[in-house]
Amino acid sequence: MSTLPFADWMAATQNRVETALANSLPGADNIPARLHDAMRYATLGGGKRVRPLLAFAAGELTGAAADKLDVVACAVEMIHAYSLVHDDMPCMDDDVLRRGRPTCHVEYDEPTALLVGDSLQTMAFELLASQSLGERQLEMIALLAHASGSRGMAGGQAIDLASVGKPLNQPELELMHALKTGALIRAAVLLGALAGQPLSAEERNNLDRFAKRAGLLFQVVDDILDCTASTATLGKTAGKDEAADKPTYVSLLGLDAARAYADELRSDALDALTIFGERAARLTQLADFICHRQF
Ligand code: IPE
Ligand code: IPE
Ligand code: MG
Ligand code: MG
Ligand code: MG
Repeated sequence: MSTLPFADWMAATQNRVETALANSLPGADNIPARLHDAMRYATLGGGKRVRPLLAFAAGELTGAAADKLDVVACAVEMIHAYSLVHDDMPCMDDDVLRRGRPTCHVEYDEPTALLVGDSLQTMAFELLASQSLGERQLEMIALLAHASGSRGMAGGQAIDLASVGKPLNQPELELMHALKTGALIRAAVLLGALAGQPLSAEERNNLDRFAKRAGLLFQVVDDILDCTASTATLGKTAGKDEAADKPTYVSLLGLDAARAYADELRSDALDALTIFGERAARLTQLADFICHRQF
């Protein structure tokens, strides 16, 4: 691990990913210019880049090369950016603010936002398939596809939309969160590790357990922030879940128990990392960041 303090490592990795994304996306004046401009708008210049950070941190476990991690990080972040563009559309959460700016369909228009999502999704796979990522490249492509589709993020979004106004029990809510948010976070971790040397079966199981707990933790904290943080801090409209009558960990458990559950998930996630020792220092720091973040 580099000796940089966590905040400096995070800033350096975020900058690195910003550059890699800017270089991977078509230029804003490439025809069709409006679509490419909107793709850049939706992807660049904002966001915490948690999934890329997780990929880089997991890559430290397996000695993955930074140029391979750039590819993995960009692919996962493109899927994430696409999911946000569609999540904000009037047919889904109908949000006007994202990353402190107007949402894509507000800044452009709905058909453009739809196509931005389509195009970012396919670009993610074009990127993953366009250069050699080692012996497990096919597994990596399949993993990201599975995590993005109807048995992953898109499936979770379907459950989310079908659950408006319906109180879910905890296993049902956990499944929804594990799919809509957890699947892509898990993919970021596993893809980062797969870009390097193989892990033992035991190591892989532990990393997977970490990735699943961290993914669920991420959405539990998102639910908490939706009702505790301000719109200005979040850069997206606060209080949307309650207003839209969405089942969340806060609506199910109440705020205090949701916070306690987040702490429990964090310690479970950290437990899973103990076999890696110092090699997992960045992942440990990221689990703390995901749990204690303010936006
Ligand atoms: C928000 O994700 C949507 C969820 C999956 C909860 P992030 O909180 O990672 O959003 P950005 O990328 O930092 O804007
Ligand atoms: C979003 O969940 C999950 C995906 C985008 C796949 P939310 O709807 O809670 O995300 P925010 O709060 O709008 O960022
Ligand atoms: Mg949503
Ligand atoms: Mg939303
Ligand atoms: Mg939310």
